[in-house]
Amino acid sequence: MSEGSIAADGVIDTQTCRTVRVDLGERSYDIVIGDGLIAESGARIAALFPGSRVAIVIDETVAKHHLPAFEASLEAVGLEHETFTVKPGEGSKSFPVFQDLCDRLLAARFERGDVVAALGGGVIGDLAGFVAGVVRRGMPFVQVPTTLLAQVDSSVGGKTSINTRHGKNLIGIFNQPALVLADTKVLDTLTPRDFRAGYAEIAKYGLLDDPDFFAWLEENWSGIFEGGPARIKAVAHSCEAKARVVAMDEREDGVRALLNLGHTFGHALERGVGYDGALLVHGEGVAIGTVLAHRFSAEQGLCSEADAERVEQHLAKVGLPTHMSDIPGQLPGIPELMRYIAQDKKVSRGALTFILTRGIGRSFIEKDVDRDAVEGFLERSGDKA
Ligand SMILES: NC(=O)c1ccc[n+]([C@@H]2O[C@H](COP(=O)([O-])OP(=O)(O)OC[C@H]3O[C@@H](n4cnc5c(N)ncnc54)[C@H](O)[C@@H]3O)[C@@H](O)[C@H]2O)c1
Repeated sequence: MSEGSIAADGVIDTQTCRTVRVDLGERSYDIVIGDGLIAESGARIAALFPGSRVAIVIDETVAKHHLPAFEASLEAVGLEHETFTVKPGEGSKSFPVFQDLCDRLLAARFERGDVVAALGGGVIGDLAGFVAGVVRRGMPFVQVPTTLLAQVDSSVGGKTSINTRHGKNLIGIFNQPALVLADTKVLDTLTPRDFRAGYAEIAKYGLLDDPDFFAWLEENWSGIFEGGPARIKAVAHSCEAKARVVAMDEREDGVRALLNLGHTFGHALERGVGYDGALLVHGEGVAIGTVLAHRFSAEQGLCSEADAERVEQHLAKVGLPTHMSDIPGQLPGIPELMRYIAQDKKVSRGALTFILTRGIGRSFIEKDVDRDAVEGFLERSGDKA
């Protein structure tokens, strides 16, 4: 990671700007992280794609807060642009919206050498990245993530997709962006709930293999919420961790599955509430799932109860839900949740795979986890909850 200072053209901030390289051979790219980067995005895009037109894909909420600054930065360097707005929320990751966007880009005569800019959260990044990957057999695209979750997770690694009636993220492609611009200041307009949801993914990086980072988070989490250097450090550290894993296993044939810590339980819970964001958003499902993964590991004798307790205490302290009973409304019964778990993407020839742990920062991939053990554990967790 470099702490950057390229200044002659006014492009790059000095002290507070960090760059993380995602090392993927000819598909390598930079993630640039810093406060106020949106004002420099035009110059950075022009440096990579001089003279191109920019198709901005954005949702209505993000447009209200951040579109004028982004457009101004493009205009400052003479880049032509057109904006394609969709409704906020998971519903936009759908076939109809995908088709409509492809049509609108073609109608606006965007060419193969032009650029798609995904300005928004994970929904916009996943949708626009997929559109960019297939319109005219592939246009370059730039991620400008505006949620904490998108900055530390979804904008990095090249997974793009839409949902179908069969489930989430089932149609899509691996398509790496040409650049990621993470302006940590734009996160100030997020709701506290959306901010917290992204924090669950930051904590995950500490819990995977970096106990020192988790300890740092326990001390510094409030600084991340407030903004400034602690937030930049946390985003950069998380991106570095994700970049490392993606560089080792771009298409999730092995070690990339580790990034799913907390996600097997979490996805089942999201499905259990019918993906109703009013009841549970992705990061909240991950928070509960992460606690469950640690509790289950403790029950299996793999990690100490004290470590599981420490994880729960920290996530609860930042205001995240940590128990199934924290989810409002009625969850389906445990047999139904088990059916959802059995459809997890990591299931291989019917065997359950979980990310389990031997303690803080000591996660590992466990194949062939006993179904009865998981079911019994969930029954007991439900009682406790
Ligand atoms: N591709 C990947 O590797 C990957 C990884 C994790 C999650 N995802 C996907 O990411 C999606 C969730 O992403 P998300 O949590 O960012 O959701 P999101 O994109 O729906 O954003 C959450 C809400 O925040 C609003 N918003 C975004 N930026 C804002 C800002 N700066 N100020 C105010 N409001 C803002 C949005 O309008 C939306 O209402 C899911 O679809 C999930 O499947 C993808």
